[in-house]
Amino acid sequence: MEVKTSLLDNMIGVGDMVLLEPLSEESFIENLRNRFDHNEIYTYIGSVVISMNPYRSLPIFTPEKVEEYRNRNFYELSPHIYALADEAYRSLRDQDKDQCILITGESGAGKTEASKLVMSYVAAVCGKGQEVNKVKEQLLQSNPVLEAFGNAKTVRNDNSSRFGKYMDIEFDFKGDPLGGVISNYLLEKSRVVKQPRGERNFHIFYQLLSGASDDTLKKLKLDRDFSKYNYLSLDSASVTGLDDAACFRTVRNAMQIVGFMEDEVQSVLELVAAVLKLGNIEFKPESRVNGFDESRVKDKNDLKEMCELLGIEQSVLERAFSYRTVEAKMEKVSTTLNVSQAYYARDALAKNLYSRLFSWLVTRINESIKAQAKTRHKVMGVLDIYGFEIFEENSFEQFIINYCNEKLQQIFIELTLREEQEEYIREDIEWTNIEYFNNAIICDLIENNQNGILAMLDEECLRPGTVTDDTFLDKLNTICAEHQHFESRLSKNSKFLTDHSLPHSCFRIQHYAGKVLYRVEGFVDKNNDLLYRDLSQAMYKANHSLMKQIFPEGNPAKVNLKRPPTAGFQFKASVGTLMRNLLTKNPNYIRCIKPNDKKAAHIFTDTLVCHQARYLGLMENVRVRRAGYAFRQMYEPCLERYKMLCKQTWPHWRGPTREGVEVLMADLQISTEEFAYGRSKIFIRNPRTLFFLEEKRRGCLENLAALIQKIYRGWKCRKHFLLLKKSQVVVAAWYRRYAQQNKYQKIKSSTVVMQSFIRGWKARKILRELKYQKRCKEAVTTISAYWHGTQARRELRRLKEEARRKHAVAVIWAYWLGLKVRREYRKFFRAHAGRKIYDFTIQRIMQKYFLNLKKTMPSMSPIDKKWPARPYLFMEGANTELRRIFYLWRCKKYRSQFTEDKKAVYEEKLEASEIFKDKKALYPSSVSQPFKGDYVEINKNPKYQKLNTAVEEKVILADVVNKINRANGKGSSRIFLLTKNNFVLADQKTGQVKASIPLPDLTSVSVSTQNDGFFALKLKEGSASAAKGDFLLSSDHLIEIITKLHRAGTAMADREQININISDEFLVQFKQDKVCVKFVQGGSKNGNSAACKRKNNRLLEVSVPSP
Ligand SMILES: Nc1ncnc2c1ncn2[C@@H]1O[C@H](COP(=O)(O)OP(=O)(O)O)[C@@H](O)[C@H]1O
Ligand SMILES: [Mg+2]
Repeated sequence: MEVKTSLLDNMIGVGDMVLLEPLSEESFIENLRNRFDHNEIYTYIGSVVISMNPYRSLPIFTPEKVEEYRNRNFYELSPHIYALADEAYRSLRDQDKDQCILITGESGAGKTEASKLVMSYVAAVCGKGQEVNKVKEQLLQSNPVLEAFGNAKTVRNDNSSRFGKYMDIEFDFKGDPLGGVISNYLLEKSRVVKQPRGERNFHIFYQLLSGASDDTLKKLKLDRDFSKYNYLSLDSASVTGLDDAACFRTVRNAMQIVGFMEDEVQSVLELVAAVLKLGNIEFKPESRVNGFDESRVKDKNDLKEMCELLGIEQSVLERAFSYRTVEAKMEKVSTTLNVSQAYYARDALAKNLYSRLFSWLVTRINESIKAQAKTRHKVMGVLDIYGFEIFEENSFEQFIINYCNEKLQQIFIELTLREEQEEYIREDIEWTNIEYFNNAIICDLIENNQNGILAMLDEECLRPGTVTDDTFLDKLNTICAEHQHFESRLSKNSKFLTDHSLPHSCFRIQHYAGKVLYRVEGFVDKNNDLLYRDLSQAMYKANHSLMKQIFPEGNPAKVNLKRPPTAGFQFKASVGTLMRNLLTKNPNYIRCIKPNDKKAAHIFTDTLVCHQARYLGLMENVRVRRAGYAFRQMYEPCLERYKMLCKQTWPHWRGPTREGVEVLMADLQISTEEFAYGRSKIFIRNPRTLFFLEEKRRGCLENLAALIQKIYRGWKCRKHFLLLKKSQVVVAAWYRRYAQQNKYQKIKSSTVVMQSFIRGWKARKILRELKYQKRCKEAVTTISAYWHGTQARRELRRLKEEARRKHAVAVIWAYWLGLKVRREYRKFFRAHAGRKIYDFTIQRIMQKYFLNLKKTMPSMSPIDKKWPARPYLFMEGANTELRRIFYLWRCKKYRSQFTEDKKAVYEEKLEASEIFKDKKALYPSSVSQPFKGDYVEINKNPKYQKLNTAVEEKVILADVVNKINRANGKGSSRIFLLTKNNFVLADQKTGQVKASIPLPDLTSVSVSTQNDGFFALKLKEGSASAAKGDFLLSSDHLIEIITKLHRAGTAMADREQININISDEFLVQFKQDKVCVKFVQGGSKNGNSAACKRKNNRLLEVSVPSP
């Protein structure tokens, strides 16, 4: 449940001055002091917030506080500036009412801080988002920039705003900020050239010199030392707790965020530097012939540097400081300036330069923060303007400032009354006229167009002839003398003539906030605010981006002979605009008060606060607010707060709230004049009544609290008792159970003991009996066993005896029988046993041998030499014989497979073997070669057809042989044919028969023992064939040829065998000569074949390659 709170809860003093009872200045101040001492710096007067400057940071501006005050009603929480900001923001957002927040108070009272608090609160509660945050940031960051250029340390405030500021913040329909517009009022520019004791020039000068980098300073031709500059008073150059260098960085950063370009910042700093330089320009008098004084610039260095900074031609500026040109009606008159005039001109230039720079800054910031969207905006204006100033010496500035405050007071009265009236109408309450002081008459005294003080000052300034401040005062004296708020010593009003508190050349105005004495000195000058045209023209000519913008009147093309508007006139106009602007908005007031003059925390100076309260018209304010009804409250919170005061409404009122309140008031018997019922609110005339209600409520709350306490305590005790009771039952139950359990256990265990004893006794008895029986049984068994045993053994012994006897008889019988048999048959054994056993054994061995032979028979291959060995020596002969028979039989078997042809071949091979085996080295290589016989295919070859037919007989062998020539040992090819009866030599190429020799003519054949194919065919001496001599031939098939020759020769029955002569040296008959053919083993010169060489007539040598 949400707890409804109210301003009235835990109040220190009263949170709203309207409730002050009795209302007097003392009680008012006392209330403020009381609250201030308790750190309550905010107090309301109705919807106006009075803010006391705490001069220390209080923990009441945290984000948590922001959340606390967010979306709460104004009177719900204790007074706070956030409550006002929230109220303003919400009625702007939700009710579409433009708002303005008017912050007033004297210098150092905390106006600027208050304005920042309002802005930061609004920034915290309004919408979020990238774009919105950027706008917020720019709006907030415009403050440091303006403060650097427009604030200064004064005796009252280390960071005193020296200009008035009004800022319009624009929001869209959702309440998100869109942008803003800043207006500035009356910068205190005289501070640029001169500062009162203990005060400083504007912050920016100090910040620039302390914070800028060496490089920047060099560019600006500046020196860090403050003492080098005439315009910077030395006595309070540094302020405790203020770090100028850090501030400079903050300002640069803020300028960047706001959107200043880098070159713009540079230009601004150049102007600031130029002002400092300007202050250093000094003049010296120079007498002229015509008697006029003239001034000259003393040291031109500063002038030169300043001209360089601003891009001004030095001579032009120098001249502008020495001469003044006055133009009137097409005439130009040039007059020289004396030294003091030159100084005046210099200072005027400096002031103008700076104040215009300041205005330019405001314009530039406005450009950046201008709302982009063209939609309708809701506006919240924040006015932070100098408050009423009453010094010892009050001059033109104070006059202007106080005028402004007078106007603000006026709209305050007007708007407050208007609002009050509107509320009465809204709530349908009868309007009773309120008596209050209307300061319109004072405003009129100042601003009246005909005879107002400002109008007369302007008139005086424009009047030709000598014009001084005194002539102005005279004029005032004549015209305003009758005015009841104007006083002057010289006024016609004789009552003042004796008033010695009023010095000469002064006038006094009775402002709504008190009397202020103004000294007229300087009024005319300050109002004129004159800058010689030569100077403004010189400035316009400057080659600098800013100068042309801020000195537009210097443009020679637009020479305006009319005087520029006076300062007073300008101010009046801008105040007028401001007032018109404020009148369209819903006002919210923050009245700032400073508690002491020492800028110190915790000190509350009564007189000072009283003075401020007076001139701020706070009492007036309370009175106006209380004129009709002091307090008003919506029905619902009212009923909620006081419903306990009446039985009908407590604890719940079911009907409409208004009726509830009516019943409540009737029940309390409050007189009907004390309150009135509006549409939604109840209006209470006197705070007394409210406090009566509060008092009753407090009493009632105490009773209620006591009641609640009583009921609660009763309830709590009862609950406790019930709990105790319940627990007691539980405990008792548990205990009984436990006791019974114990008892039962005891009985149970004793029973068991007794039982066990009895059972034991019984069991033992039975056991004893059983044991006795068992022993009896055992005894019987043992006895019977012994008896049976005896019986059995006796029988066994008898049986054994019987058996032994039977066996002995059998054995004796067997022995006897054996003996008898052996005696009988001995003669039949032994006589032929040896022979028979021998035969049988031999038989057996033979049988085994043959059976074994059968199993191990060798293979049928004739060359297989295997044969099983004999087992016994006596079988040697038989075994060898058997083997021989087997071999023969196997050969026979083998032979029986041969055909006739094959048989012939083998016969030939056999014959070859008989002839050559172990005799000629060539033989082994021929064994594997089959004897083909016809090597030249004589039948098929057509070349030898004729030869074939010529031979007639069957050709046994045909081969190509070499016939060795006796002359050289070389061979020539011949066909060698062998038939049954002849052998023929024929030409190999033609097949022509060279020689045909019948076989009977061949006596022998000679061959070597070696591995060659030479053979000699020796013919029968004296035969026809032998006429040509023997043949020495060589052939690759020597073995075959010789074998076949030998067979053919052998086949002829009528002749003897052809001799085969195997020797390494033999004779061959060549015709008449016998030549010896000798075979030698030679190197393998001719490869593998043997070569024949003739050695001499009688010797042919055949060298056979060694094997
Ligand atoms: N709410 C505040 N909390 C703490 N210090 C404050 C507060 N208001 C003002 N001050 C102190 O008072 C000084 C002057 O306040 P400032 O707002 O500059 O006065 P004004 O603008 O009225 O001349 C500030 O510099 C600050 O030290
Ligand atoms: Mg200020």
